[in-house]
Amino acid sequence: MSHKSSEFRRRFVLNDLAATGALGARIAAGLRRGTAVALEGELGTGKTALARAVLRAQGLKEEAPSPSFSLVQSYDLPGLTVAHFDLYRIDHDAELAELGIEDALDQGAILIEWPKRASGLLPEDTLFVHLASGIHGLRYVELNGPQRWASYF
Ligand SMILES: Nc1ncnc2c1ncn2[C@@H]1O[C@H](COP(=O)(O)OP(=O)(O)OP(=O)(O)O)[C@@H](O)[C@H]1O
Ligand SMILES: [Mg+2]
Repeated sequence: MSHKSSEFRRRFVLNDLAATGALGARIAAGLRRGTAVALEGELGTGKTALARAVLRAQGLKEEAPSPSFSLVQSYDLPGLTVAHFDLYRIDHDAELAELGIEDALDQGAILIEWPKRASGLLPEDTLFVHLASGIHGLRYVELNGPQRWASYF
């Protein structure tokens, strides 16, 4: 199992939440069972906003709550189950094991904030999304993953 896939690499600037929404729709189009989307970036860079955009594009009608306290929220969406994890508050491997990341990958796709805490569990088909904040609310995003993702961008 490798999580250093770097065949596909792309950078974007997100001017606003509408741009985040458009990026989320592209990512949603590439999701399948066993896919992970690793949402990296400092506090407040827009990881949850992008996860919400993916979930919305995948058919979620209501606003997804942030899993910062629940640690995971799972959604049975048309055609795909998607679990949204936030590992910020995880500090023991025992807690990580209880969260069921591997089961979630067996059942569907996962979106995972602060993914470094679970780097050993990420599948080959992981799209790494690195977000960074710029001036005037801009976000810079870098995507990195297996070549198959190129067809969605
Ligand atoms: N592309 C964007 N343009 C403007 N504002 C944005 C954008 N993306 C996110 N934001 C805003 O930035 C704030 C933080 O976003 P969000 O909660 O998604 O960040 P986060 O990376 O999940 O934070 P945390 O590290 O606390 O989980 C929110 O107010 C959100 O609306
Ligand atoms: Mg968040």
